[in-house]
Amino acid sequence: ARLVVLISGSGSNLQAIIDAVAAGTIPAEICAVISNKADAFGLERAKKAGIEAKVLDHKAFASREEYDVALGDLIDSFSPDCVVLAGFMRILTAGLVQKFKGKMLNIHPSLLPKYQGLNTHQRALDANDKVHGVSVHFVTEELDGGPVIVQAQVAIESDDTADSLAQKVHAQEHIIYPLVVKWFSEQRLKMEDNYAVLDNNTL
Ligand code: GRF
Repeated sequence: ARLVVLISGSGSNLQAIIDAVAAGTIPAEICAVISNKADAFGLERAKKAGIEAKVLDHKAFASREEYDVALGDLIDSFSPDCVVLAGFMRILTAGLVQKFKGKMLNIHPSLLPKYQGLNTHQRALDANDKVHGVSVHFVTEELDGGPVIVQAQVAIESDDTADSLAQKVHAQEHIIYPLVVKWFSEQRLKMEDNYAVLDNNTL
């Protein structure tokens, strides 16, 4: 499968996917990494792995619509089977989501449908939750609302802070995101009628 990964920051999830591709666990090629920020550390990770690293700065565009049209064209130029959002901190227009319907994955640091949006770790603490976690889901027009594919849970201890929770959640992210990308690359995972469907016939 051909993958394009979108990032805005550190890219530790990107790294986990790079490593799983290099290990032969994910039968895919990462064709490009695209960032909306020129200083995203994930761009260095891409270059180090010999992957084409592109910057498309949203500040150079007059509107979200124009940016997303350019982004869609750039993604299309790599003819991907799967578009992997890995800490891409932008709200996508409906047009862009439609264009890659059923092909676009996102990872969100909460047990969706809880805590869509930002500051999820602090919000879980403020709510006195005992359990927190992370979700990988298909992207639909509803922000952080597409069908969930896999979730991982972490326990919230009394001494946890937003930072310590973020660390625990990240460790789980690096396990479940490569797993889902592997399934997708093996064509075992599809979105059907707003559900994530796994096919086990290749087990
Ligand atoms: C992760 O917490 C992910 O869940 C969220 O953005 C963060 C990206 O981290 N969507 P990294 O850049 O992969 O290290």
